[in-house]
Amino acid sequence: MKQITDFTIVERKALGEAYFTLTLQHPQTLPPIEAGQFVEVEVRDCNDVLLRRPISIHDVDTEHNTLTLLIQIVGKGTRKLATLQVGDTLNLVYPLGHGFSLKGERPLLVGGGAGIAPLLHLAKCYNERGIRPTILLGGRTERLIPARDAFTPYGTLLLTTDDGSLGEKGMVTQHSRFNDNYDHICCCGPTPMMRAVGRHALQHDIPCELSLENMMACGIGACLCCVVKSDGGHLCVCKEGPVFEATKLTNWIDS
Ligand SMILES: Cc1cc2nc3c(=O)[nH]c(=O)nc-3n(C[C@H](O)[C@H](O)[C@H](O)COP(=O)(O)OP(=O)(O)OC[C@H]3O[C@@H](n4cnc5c(N)ncnc54)[C@H](O)[C@@H]3O)c2cc1C
Ligand code: FES
Repeated sequence: MKQITDFTIVERKALGEAYFTLTLQHPQTLPPIEAGQFVEVEVRDCNDVLLRRPISIHDVDTEHNTLTLLIQIVGKGTRKLATLQVGDTLNLVYPLGHGFSLKGERPLLVGGGAGIAPLLHLAKCYNERGIRPTILLGGRTERLIPARDAFTPYGTLLLTTDDGSLGEKGMVTQHSRFNDNYDHICCCGPTPMMRAVGRHALQHDIPCELSLENMMACGIGACLCCVVKSDGGHLCVCKEGPVFEATKLTNWIDS
């Protein structure tokens, strides 16, 4: 059941210059939240930003009724959100979209950039099923792999950077353990990363889910601005996704 409601910011952490987290508390019990679902955040007092901004749910704490968002500063809306302080309120529409299926016994979670965000809640959900996933995070350089320490309790953490400043040098698909015997892959990150991971999964017949981060406006399936061409027609990313099986996205992966 979707809600439109105010949360109070109870923690704000800067993660270098480009990223920050906001932990938001609600006085009432949170609804069930699937890993991979997202919120539409209202950006207040910013004349140029009329539409809400879609942001993945990074972490959920049901004991304290908190959600954490991991946000990359890329434009006007996220820059405004970065000015919020503890005690401020933030209006969210949530939980939106369909999340990851939590299939597999030996899952590999792959993330890059702001696409790392949904993978923490995902890793924790696998842990609740008694499964410790392998988590492979990649970035151009060390400071562009945010929040990585948060993952270590929940799985085997592997890292790659293009410049070799952290983990193995190269792209995630070049990591020495990328070809280990995984039975499921979940990926969220920049489009070239998701295409490469999806192509690998299709070629090796490994079930794979990709979480698309298309531009969105309404977030509820009304404006159709987030549609992608799929094998059987078109997919509305905000409503039918953002998580899709790679087998439904072969056109997108090859485009
Ligand atoms: C389902 C979903 C989940 C997302 N989760 C997160 C998250 O957890 N953390 C996070 O930091 N970001 C996330 N994003 C991306 C985030 O929504 C955009 O970065 C944000 O809306 C940009 O707003 P802005 O006003 O700061 O930028 P704008 O001023 O609107 O744009 C600035 C620049 O960012 C680019 N941009 C805008 N939207 C996107 C987008 N969706 N993807 C890539 N580039 C974009 C624009 O092309 C432009 O170059 C998610 C997007 C989707 C669709
Ligand atoms: S954002 Fe409006 S239909 Fe998806």
